[in-house]
Amino acid sequence: MSANPRPLVAGNWKMNSLRADANALAAGVAAKHKAAGEIACDVLVCPPFHLLTEVSAAVAGSGVQLGAQTCHTGVSGAHTGDVSAEMIADCGATYVIVGHSERRADHGEDDATVKARAEAAHRASLNAIVCIGETEGERDAGNALNVVESQLAGSMPDAATAANTVVAYEPVWAIGTGRTANTDEIKEVHDHIRKILVARFGDDGNGMRILYGGSMKAENADGIMAVENVNGGLIGGAALKAETFWPIVEAAL
Ligand code: 13P
Repeated sequence: MSANPRPLVAGNWKMNSLRADANALAAGVAAKHKAAGEIACDVLVCPPFHLLTEVSAAVAGSGVQLGAQTCHTGVSGAHTGDVSAEMIADCGATYVIVGHSERRADHGEDDATVKARAEAAHRASLNAIVCIGETEGERDAGNALNVVESQLAGSMPDAATAANTVVAYEPVWAIGTGRTANTDEIKEVHDHIRKILVARFGDDGNGMRILYGGSMKAENADGIMAVENVNGGLIGGAALKAETFWPIVEAAL
């Protein structure tokens, strides 16, 4: 695969939106994509589980793809409250985010379970978006690169390829805070991630998308997307309105 992967801009809706708002948001993003036609960027929306089927219908035929926000490691069974990768795929999704820092913090997910979730995604033919990123304390202690390296080593499945896995670098201190990493900080980490991916996965490591996430919005998207080895974004707050999400997609073109 080429060293210039096709960008991906993904909206992570997190635990937001009731049905009416979610459907309106999905329809809004779908309309923007339809109006834009064929674009050189993959566009993804990741609603909460219970809205996957409705949002799948709302974006059908628009070019907008569908993803979930996590998955269980198993196919089925006695796991109350969990949702398997197969169930997600059955709703029409093609992606699933795994290892988001909010999952790691709220549910104690460690690198080994994140890796198992990514493997479950692959088993169900879903693309896995594997999230990594340091806390503020880890950055202040000068450990950002080490943390990212060890999370990558533990969270990426051995069978990861450019076609089935995306890495999302989301510094925890930049998520939902309005404080974005500056482009030098982003470049340093993304270059490091690329080096590690190439060392482990060879040419596939060159083709894997590396997304930036953390307070990305229309105002800073152009600068971030222009950074080498930034191949798109994982967007939280700004993904909750089509009018604030779409300019980020345009910045990736
Ligand atoms: P914000 O864009 O709201 O900072 O969230 C980023 C994020 O966590 C996306 O997964």
